[in-house]
Amino acid sequence: MDIDWPALRAAAADVALRAYAPYSRLRVGAAGLTGDGRVVTGCNVENASFGLTLCAECGLVSALHATAPVPAAAHDGAAPAAPGLIAVAVVAGDEAPLLPCGRCRQLLLEAGGPALLVDTASGPVPLAELLPAAFGGADLSARRDS
Ligand code: THU
Repeated sequence: MDIDWPALRAAAADVALRAYAPYSRLRVGAAGLTGDGRVVTGCNVENASFGLTLCAECGLVSALHATAPVPAAAHDGAAPAAPGLIAVAVVAGDEAPLLPCGRCRQLLLEAGGPALLVDTASGPVPLAELLPAAFGGADLSARRDS
């Protein structure tokens, strides 16, 4: 699928205008393209209890799931298949790329896998470059108690 990076960056800049960031005054917007062609977005939402702040990528991942088509298996009580991201742009209020924080790199990994393309100041890079040697679901399957 072709990735329209200027449109994705513009969607991220647009949603950054809706950020609620009265404490840090750093507005952040994130926009992602899904494998089925949807664009989902999120902005950061802060709280007077600072540790409760939601990063823009948290909102994006929530929107990814909340707007996905309901898989048939969900009606049987089975875990729904995760809808995947293929490209993500994150920008600050100045509309320039902002690298996702460590926690959000981990969230994005589960939402798009290591090949997910993440925009940077020098162009898109696979998430695996930003989060090498990552912990993931396969580690759980392989290492948990039986
Ligand atoms: N922030 C994000 O939204 N995403 C990131 O990846 C880094 C940080 C937000 C959280 C907080 O509202 C502000 O930026 C300052 O940390």
